[in-house]
Amino acid sequence: VIMQIVEKRKKEKVNWKAVREQFQLDDAYIHLASSQFIASHPAPVRHAIERHRMGLDKNPVMYTLEHENSCMNQIRSAAAKYLNMDTPDDIAITDSTTMGLGLIYTGLRLHEGQEILMSEYDYFSHQEAIRIKAESSGATYREFPLYQNVSTVTVEEMVESVIREVKDKTRVIGLTWVFSCTGLKTPIAKIGEAIKEINRQRDEKDRIIYIVDAVHGFGIELETFQELGCDFLISGCHKWLFGPRGTGLIAGTSSAWQHVVPVIPSFTEVMDAVTHGRERPGKMDGKQMTPGGFHSMDHRWALLEAFQFAQDIGKEQIYERVHELNRYCKKGLAAMPHVTLHTPLDDDLSAGIIAFEVQGLTTVETVDKLVSKKIIATESPYRTSYARFTPGIYNTTEEIDLALEAVQSLRN
Ligand SMILES: Cc1ncc(COP(=O)(O)O)c(C=O)c1O
Repeated sequence: VIMQIVEKRKKEKVNWKAVREQFQLDDAYIHLASSQFIASHPAPVRHAIERHRMGLDKNPVMYTLEHENSCMNQIRSAAAKYLNMDTPDDIAITDSTTMGLGLIYTGLRLHEGQEILMSEYDYFSHQEAIRIKAESSGATYREFPLYQNVSTVTVEEMVESVIREVKDKTRVIGLTWVFSCTGLKTPIAKIGEAIKEINRQRDEKDRIIYIVDAVHGFGIELETFQELGCDFLISGCHKWLFGPRGTGLIAGTSSAWQHVVPVIPSFTEVMDAVTHGRERPGKMDGKQMTPGGFHSMDHRWALLEAFQFAQDIGKEQIYERVHELNRYCKKGLAAMPHVTLHTPLDDDLSAGIIAFEVQGLTTVETVDKLVSKKIIATESPYRTSYARFTPGIYNTTEEIDLALEAVQSLRN
């Protein structure tokens, strides 16, 4: 089936039905929420997990010793290729976005008198990682509004809002690529350019470190790590990339890695050097930030196949497909008088998450009523919560039509 996908792609058309067949999704439901929630494993990932599991169950010691370094190196290389980075060692492998955020903020060298800026709409894991770091380091943090109104927001407004907030003591800016409350996409690259401009006037020790929770852009959007212009890109791989559940990564620039210290002892060259009485590696990198200890290796090592799966379909094709389905769904919702759409229609301001409200119903009621009609939506876990559809690569316009019909029927 993968060959069918690849063959079609050569003719610039992906066989989306073949893509859907890679997933074992229950056809009794329309799965319009899971791409942003937690991955269903596509066949290549499932098979790789089974292969590694079998190997580990048959001979845990030998299978681990034979595979641990080569698999991790292959995964880092595949991730670097996906993000168009030259140095795979600048990538740390984690279990989730949350773990990546926790590691980076905990590891940052920060002190009293310095400040972290975060947007009002960053996810709990991000805000909490910042709050905990501030408490332990003596640095302060400040939440700022990125825009006034999501229905009139512009790229320029968001860039200006960030830059306006920067003070001499601002040492870290934490942002989110695509907000999971509204589906709004942040102009990460443009903000990155503006931060670089400020950093030109600063010494390396004082420069702003730009940290991005990338989880709802990663696996959909096209920008490379360098194009995004951030210091650290943090993402889970178990959402839009459809990697094994319990996988994630941190990509950092070589210079940014020098501003953090390892948090959890890593099973890498450091351990080899110490146990063999050699000198520790001097330079910090993603390998050393990769938490050591044994993990669910059967899952982790199957991440390689997830990158391969995405590359086989094609990054551009995935981008086009997800945006096309989302545009279609948003237009349908926007046309309903009893629905308020909270996600911009513009492709530059949105990706795969659609947030909406139905007049006369709470968010919980909306989601429950849709689930009773076999349409899976989610509630966004924020102070102000909306219902969400998140069309992804395995959805079809026919499924979206059925979901729209169901929303239409919620009119009082
Ligand atoms: C913006 C954002 N960041 C982080 C997370 C947490 O992701 P993970 O499950 O990979 O820790 C979520 C959850 O969906 C999210 O919406």
